[in-house]
Amino acid sequence: MAPSSARALRILALLLSLSSSAGFHLAAPSSHAPRRERRAGSISADASKRGELQVRLLGIGAAAPEKRVPNSELEELVDTSDEWIAQRTGISCRHLLAPEEGLSDLATSAVKDALEQAGVEAADVDLVIMATSSPDDLFGDAAGVARSVGATGAVAFDLTAACSGFLFGINTASQFLHNGAYETAVVIGADALSRWVDWSDRNTCVLFGDGAGAVVLQRAAEGEAAGVLGFEMHSNGAGREDLNLPYDGDTRELASIATVTTGKYTPIAMNGKEVYKFATTCVPKVLNEALENAELTVDDVDWLLMHQANIRIMETVAKKLKIPMDKVLTNLAEYGNTSAGSIPLALNEAVREGKVKKGDVIACAGFGAGLSWGSAILRWG
Ligand code: COA
Repeated sequence: MAPSSARALRILALLLSLSSSAGFHLAAPSSHAPRRERRAGSISADASKRGELQVRLLGIGAAAPEKRVPNSELEELVDTSDEWIAQRTGISCRHLLAPEEGLSDLATSAVKDALEQAGVEAADVDLVIMATSSPDDLFGDAAGVARSVGATGAVAFDLTAACSGFLFGINTASQFLHNGAYETAVVIGADALSRWVDWSDRNTCVLFGDGAGAVVLQRAAEGEAAGVLGFEMHSNGAGREDLNLPYDGDTRELASIATVTTGKYTPIAMNGKEVYKFATTCVPKVLNEALENAELTVDDVDWLLMHQANIRIMETVAKKLKIPMDKVLTNLAEYGNTSAGSIPLALNEAVREGKVKKGDVIACAGFGAGLSWGSAILRWG
């Protein structure tokens, strides 16, 4: 095929993809089932279109800063104790970025490892999505990371959905692969919330850590098993007051021309009890929705992988779904809540330890600020 015809086909496929997602309708363009009635506070489309996506998850990598801070060291900063933090959250330590380190450095390292494991050349990557709420550059880190790893032919952009970001990124990239717009994608989840917590607020500062992870996805060939078996996503801006990191720029007079603001954000503010209730209510539901879309049940699930926020949230969700804790993947104790980084950080460990094997079914859920929450039933390898 002439390069110009191939390019025209790619653009047509991309336009079809964009026109379907502009109406919050993330699905393959081939299906014509009628839309289901929209539910309040959620992004909704026909359930039949949130089933299998023809992608494969081929490789994973992750990185965390070297600086490791155990709970006991936080006792120097705020009125807390290792016992309180461990019992209420399951967190024992966290890793924190040093001033000379960038989030992009972690992301770059994670992507390199993921590409190596996948056996994919950086030059063959078409799409890079970096899910983050704490980039080095507010204009976006994805393009810089793509360049650092050598994915110079890829289109790269950031996606902000707080702790749901990685999961939303997987579901977004999978649409582009499934509908044929792109062949190979990298989805990164990376955050450095140490930059944005109030280190004098014991309600929040004990929870968060820094880290990044990345997954390489490729369009599945005809007849190959699908890697996304079903998914679901929701958001509800009414819950924004329970978890936020708002802009709060200082006022500045520009002579007599105008009054503007100079950039600044206030630290993370959270109503822990409300977020806890939200997570333990919405996460089991959204996992069941994705399982239903995949036409699977919890008996088909090999592993349950949730955003690593609090072990008690994971225990409650697992109990509600009747999934035993030995099927729950977690490394929260070591890294704390790394926001968009947490799911790939935990999955990377499980894959590299040989726990998660090719063909395993992983029920995966992200949740966090927005409020936002989503799930995907993934098949590894
Ligand atoms: N060390 C010691 N005491 C602390 C503390 C800390 N780090 N943080 C709070 N406390 C105190 C509170 O001040 C309160 O004291 P009081 O009874 O004298 O008022 C007491 O511990 C109980 O606080 P409470 O907020 O009721 O605790 P909790 O059992 O709800 O646990 C969280 C608090 C934050 C661990 C829990 O609500 C949670 O995990 N929520 C979800 C948060 C989350 O996951 N956010 C990110 C989502 S992406």
